[in-house]
Amino acid sequence: MSGYRQIDDADDEAARKAELAVRGGPKVRPDPLPARQAFGEAEVAMIDEVVAYYRERNADPGYQGHFEKRYTEAFVDTLSGGYADAVATGTAALYVAIAALELPKGGEVLVSPITDPGTLSAIILNGLKPRLIDSRPGSYNTGAAEFEARITPETVGAVIVHSIGQACDIAGIMPVARRHGIRVVEDCSQAHGAKLGGQFVGSYGDIAAFSTMYRKAHITGACGGVVYSRDLELFRRALAHADRGKPSWLPGFDDRNPNGFLFPALNLHTDEISCAIGIASLKRLNATIVGRLSFVSEFAFHLKEQSKLCRPYAYSPADSPFVFPVIVDSAKLRCTKREFAEAVIAEGIGLNPHYEYVVADWPWIKPHLADGFDTPNARAIRDQSFAVYVNEHYGDREVRDAVNAIVKVERAMAV
Ligand SMILES: Cc1ncc(COP(=O)(O)O)c(C=O)c1O
Repeated sequence: MSGYRQIDDADDEAARKAELAVRGGPKVRPDPLPARQAFGEAEVAMIDEVVAYYRERNADPGYQGHFEKRYTEAFVDTLSGGYADAVATGTAALYVAIAALELPKGGEVLVSPITDPGTLSAIILNGLKPRLIDSRPGSYNTGAAEFEARITPETVGAVIVHSIGQACDIAGIMPVARRHGIRVVEDCSQAHGAKLGGQFVGSYGDIAAFSTMYRKAHITGACGGVVYSRDLELFRRALAHADRGKPSWLPGFDDRNPNGFLFPALNLHTDEISCAIGIASLKRLNATIVGRLSFVSEFAFHLKEQSKLCRPYAYSPADSPFVFPVIVDSAKLRCTKREFAEAVIAEGIGLNPHYEYVVADWPWIKPHLADGFDTPNARAIRDQSFAVYVNEHYGDREVRDAVNAIVKVERAMAV
């Protein structure tokens, strides 16, 4: 008698555990996931160093100061050469990088289909017309064929984004761009330190922009950005476009004599404290990427083994994961992909259920685009996937919990 009872109890317990958290069941991950804390002790120590440095000299921090010099030198070292200028935000970096190309106003600029509004705003506010490119089938990123298919006689430039921390095929895109005389800005905001063919992203195009806001792989505080180029002349134009047309590289340049400035431009400077934070944060970029790659590769391995309806997005060990998409076979579910993803969140896993950064979807952008081209490949991969947040402190337990949460939800939701 009591034997039957035990089996009943065990069944009850299994049923209780299988009840989804969205329906009041127990969470797979009841306690919070590890915090990232990109702003840590090393960053705080650098702020103290800024204060001490300027007190010792009885001076106030100014533009292009000691810490900005150190930060941009470290940035350039990290990317194995080139020139870098630290600016206020990633959007400002994009704005300046595009401005530096001095493209003819009204010209068309090809742009990747999945990105932040800052990428589009930087093109439009430079008096240029964004022209969307689709992504490669099954990818968050564009490719050479998709790029070439959208070139017109009006195309003067391109902003190519390395979305979600994955290097796009910029090596394939550049020869096409060169053949057509198209100048290229790389938007590396989500892919700090990612490589393609052994070469860093940001070093393929004419010029590159990085956002260093607080969610990025390395940060300069709440916000920040870097303009980067290997072309000294172009870099100098960028410096002037980042600060009221000042030719700061000229011998004897006098910051207080506007007679010698070159053209009207905004002031998009950053500050010494942000650059000091950037110095500390950049030192751990490599460890950050290694930590994220290790999470992503373990997660992908176990997901492939255990899930019947979800599969990991393809990635390369040279990427710098920003978020990690999981592709869901919705045809075999009794719910939508979004409901599925929300059920996984309820189990205690951090993710974005529906990446809203498909540019062609935004109502406000439509009047600013060169044409009404849709980006069906970009929409399809977004619609099929949810994006798991990636944090360098996630380890085996987070891999296990994330995979268990997905498998639990798919068992409950499978047709
Ligand atoms: C791909 C991409 N481009 C541009 C931006 C804009 O950067 P910011 O927010 O620093 O202005 C971001 C991030 O926000 C981004 O992820």
